[in-house]
Amino acid sequence: MEIKDTKKISSSKLFSMTGGEGQYSYVNNSSFQKMGLDIAKKLMQEEITKKLDIDKNIFSPPNVFRIADLGCAAGPNTFFLVQDIIDAVKSKYESEEIEFQVFFNDHSANDFNTLFRTLPVGKNYFANGAPGSFYERLFPKASLHLVHSSYAIPWLSKVPEKVQDKSSPAWNKGRILYENCKEVEFVYAAQFADDFDTFLKARAEEMVPGGLMVLLFPSVQTEANPPKCIMVTIFELVGSSLMDMAKMGLVDESKVDSFNLHLYFPSAEEVKTIVERNGSFKIEKMQQLDRLMPVIEKLALVIRAASEEVV
Ligand SMILES: C[S@@+](CC[C@H](N)C(=O)[O-])C[C@H]1O[C@@H](n2cnc3c(N)ncnc32)[C@H](O)[C@@H]1O
Repeated sequence: MEIKDTKKISSSKLFSMTGGEGQYSYVNNSSFQKMGLDIAKKLMQEEITKKLDIDKNIFSPPNVFRIADLGCAAGPNTFFLVQDIIDAVKSKYESEEIEFQVFFNDHSANDFNTLFRTLPVGKNYFANGAPGSFYERLFPKASLHLVHSSYAIPWLSKVPEKVQDKSSPAWNKGRILYENCKEVEFVYAAQFADDFDTFLKARAEEMVPGGLMVLLFPSVQTEANPPKCIMVTIFELVGSSLMDMAKMGLVDESKVDSFNLHLYFPSAEEVKTIVERNGSFKIEKMQQLDRLMPVIEKLALVIRAASEEVV
């Protein structure tokens, strides 16, 4: 096994889900994310009905409604949620005449071939790819009516520099994320605040006034004491397994030290503060959903599909 030095990799190359349609692919191991999307579906559709605030007469060109799914991976979850959005928009405007243009966005390293090959037969929208990082502008000004993103926002634009710097108090020795280390967590939190602000600025330019953005991602459970996020714990287990392998002489410990994930799971409070400071968007609804209870073997495969490329 080779472990990458995350300092030496540019952010867009850092990461993509396991492609293809094989046993370990994201396509076949994203049931955990699908459970989350299913729980959020009703809420999303209600908010589209209540809060999407665009007069049908101003869709431009006439009757074209544009949707972007940011961090869509190779499917199939993106297809289900796009259809859920379209159903809700159609029923809100009580119109069969609206044409839908859907932009599937992910890093250029994403398996877009599988995505486009498996587009649903008989889909009722025009599909487009939008490769690139969502931390940059991806679309023309005022062109999107609805932006969706699930399980992608926690992926930072890069591993924070200080956690890779041996002379810094935040040097992340023996870990691949930030659990139980306040200095490291602080640096990750600052990177998230910067990245999320950049994300909001780009979307503010790209969205039409009255449009709606729907974001779904794992966050810190504030009711726990101390507050914690199960995803951080899971990735720490991966980190401690790598350290065990280093102790057994299977991998070089310095390689484990140079490897860090670029993930951060914020609290609802942090998200609220960043959105308010940014000032471009108003939070219409923010809700912590019921905790997911995945089968542990399945979850292991989900984690593998999400992280084996980077390892
Ligand atoms: C866990 S997958 C979620 C896929 C899908 N949204 C779902 O809910 O099943 C996260 C996706 O976000 C993408 N991603 C992460 N950072 C990104 C960025 N800066 N720009 C575009 N896509 C990004 C990853 O490549 C990956 O495909």
